[in-house]
Amino acid sequence: MKNASPARLAASTLAVAAVLSSLPAAAQVDPNRVIDQFEATFGKFEGFRRSGAKGVCATGEFVGSAEGRALSVASAFAGKPVPVLARFSVGGANPNAPDNARSQRNMALQFNLTAGETWQMGNISAPVFGAATPEQFLGRLQSLQPDPATKAADPAKVKAFADANPEVLLQGRYFAGQAVPASFGAVNYWGVNAFGFVNAKGEKQFGKWIFEPVGGVQTLTDDEAKAQGASFLFADLRQRAAAGSVAFDFNLELAQPGDKIDSAVTPLPAGRKKVTLGRLVIKSVSPDATGECVAITYIPTVLPKGVEPSADPMLAARAAPYAVGLGRRLTEGTKQ
Ligand code: HEM
Repeated sequence: MKNASPARLAASTLAVAAVLSSLPAAAQVDPNRVIDQFEATFGKFEGFRRSGAKGVCATGEFVGSAEGRALSVASAFAGKPVPVLARFSVGGANPNAPDNARSQRNMALQFNLTAGETWQMGNISAPVFGAATPEQFLGRLQSLQPDPATKAADPAKVKAFADANPEVLLQGRYFAGQAVPASFGAVNYWGVNAFGFVNAKGEKQFGKWIFEPVGGVQTLTDDEAKAQGASFLFADLRQRAAAGSVAFDFNLELAQPGDKIDSAVTPLPAGRKKVTLGRLVIKSVSPDATGECVAITYIPTVLPKGVEPSADPMLAARAAPYAVGLGRRLTEGTKQ
């Protein structure tokens, strides 16, 4: 396995430390408790990510646009090719999750910028997340925890929690209404949380991003999905990347004053102006389970100068559990 350079690892460790120390205490739910709850609810698969377990490493290149430069001083938008360490995955904690279900796909990215800066993000194939606050997320996971006797969640508990917290059903409803994606390279990936983009004049524009496949979204009919079986996405991605056809436009929907920008369950209103910040092309995909992405995690508050976090509590709440998850799987012997 090829390892990240010590200098970059040190820089990203410092960045994580800075992020963790800058968060308000109130935003934090004990990250060990969160990861314990992931394991209790979804099972423990040693060496694998507690979320997005079935994944593959890839590399790519991003080139920023003039529109990106106008919105942000981030060096990612300078116009020179930026190497990107990507990871594509199927949602959930199960490393054998089926590829042919109406479920979540993920695209995590690390932009390796100049001067030791990195930009990490984890994007999902839905415009909303499954909870509005870390406390609500924990409560939802608790409600889904299987009863040891029946090995299934108690439907009464699940219903009671969802009735009291209807936001937790939004994401599931979205996936139920979408056909199965035909490829990791042919689905939209949303950042879900809002971020602020700061330009050379110091002006800050908030927005929510979507990575949209240049070749368009492609889906499978139910029959096609059945015929593809439970494991086709990695081979498909390798093939498409080798043909040079895995590319995404990095698009930003611009928030207007008054828009809700602190919620992972509330997309921006329809019809907001969208600008293209640049284009990502996936160049290679690991031939097996190894690769540089295996030993890292993607923390969405590791940001370059020129991009700032919003006040969304779900954004601040991600760094610590990701770090705990990384620590556990490295200790176990990381597999994906
Ligand atoms: C408090 C809220 C959240 C918690 C506790 C949480 C927890 C986690 C954990 C533990 C991992 C595995 C990390 C690793 O081992 O490297 C993960 C992965 C991931 N999460 Fe979250 N998450 C949260 C919110 C979100 C949100 C709002 C999004 C929406 C964009 C998201 C997207 C992802 C993606 C795309 C991955 C896979 C990243 C990869 O391939 O490494 N998560 N999450």
